[in-house]
Amino acid sequence: MDYSNRIICGPMVRISSLPFRLLTLEYGADVVFSEELIDYRLTQCVRVENGIFKTNHTHELFDYLSFPLDLFGTVDFVVPGEDRAMLQIHKTREKNHLVIQLGTSDGQRALKAAQLVEKDVAGIDINMGCPKKFSLQGGMGSALLDHPDKVKQILETLVNNLSIPVSCKIRCLPTIEATLSLVRVIATTGVHAITVHGRTRDERNNNPCREEFIQAIVQEHLPNIVIISNGGSTVIPSYEDIEKFRLRCGPSHGVMLCQAAMWNPSIFRREGLLPIRDVAKRFLEISLEFDNLLPNMKYVLQRMFGVADNEIEFYEKILATETEAELYDLFGMRNDYEQQSDEKRQMWREKLRNRLM
Ligand code: FNR
Repeated sequence: MDYSNRIICGPMVRISSLPFRLLTLEYGADVVFSEELIDYRLTQCVRVENGIFKTNHTHELFDYLSFPLDLFGTVDFVVPGEDRAMLQIHKTREKNHLVIQLGTSDGQRALKAAQLVEKDVAGIDINMGCPKKFSLQGGMGSALLDHPDKVKQILETLVNNLSIPVSCKIRCLPTIEATLSLVRVIATTGVHAITVHGRTRDERNNNPCREEFIQAIVQEHLPNIVIISNGGSTVIPSYEDIEKFRLRCGPSHGVMLCQAAMWNPSIFRREGLLPIRDVAKRFLEISLEFDNLLPNMKYVLQRMFGVADNEIEFYEKILATETEAELYDLFGMRNDYEQQSDEKRQMWREKLRNRLM
């Protein structure tokens, strides 16, 4: 995979599930990231090709592993004993565009996790920006920014042992000079790309993006490294603004959008934004296809409708839904929901019957 001049949908915990990723690709994102997956959690997974319809109980998980059924066209990564896949990757619709982001503090552990998904994805990224307590306590995320030696060890281990591109996502250090010296270390490791979130670890998304830090990195002209600008969502209300942000940042070689994609995933459409209700319906259609569960659907829809103009009442109705049927009903999609669920169940039973015969 080539990162240069790409418009990327970045990693977002609880948002970047399979249906959301496929939606952003459909609207025109060139590359899409998974949410951050902690390396040791991923190494506990079993790789399963083709899932079954809903795996809500342990005995069904047993079926999951014993009767691989091609219902979804996905490769699933499942922690034995857990009722849902931790990660689902679509074999044709996203494989060549998907980057898995890992949270790690150790090269060997990260490598083990990366090798599990290596043949199913286009790239591996290391999160060096997360400021949350959980990451910092584990020496992961932005804790790595203070340890260039560890950064080097992790990235070199991955670059030297994987057959797919490796990248990392950093935040700014307090000064441009400190940020540049970290970037120079990263540049020696053989990574294909560095995403720079233009904020320090103490800054939040309402602080302005430090475009001048990204400019300074781009102007280093590091050979064979793509610099991806990130942090511009609040100044990117439309597709045209993506290019304006890119040009202001250096110009950088690529742009990563997160919140702008979360607020309205059709931000990736050259032809312009679609009404949020249309976007939400398409999200629900894809969710139906992959048996997405209510908590994820509600979470994603709440983030979309929470910022949409004149949608506060509808937002509250989404909040109040308690079942998948109610949610689909709210969007006038109850029939689609019932029909598709029945079809899937029937297909599963039939496939299972054939297997058992
Ligand atoms: C994030 N961010 C984030 N970053 C990361 O490296 N891994 C992750 O899993 C997440 N998760 C996440 C969840 C949610 C809900 C948000 C809003 C953000 C940070 C994100 O990738 C990005 O760096 C910032 O949001 C700034 O970019 P935008 O939003 O201005 O385009």
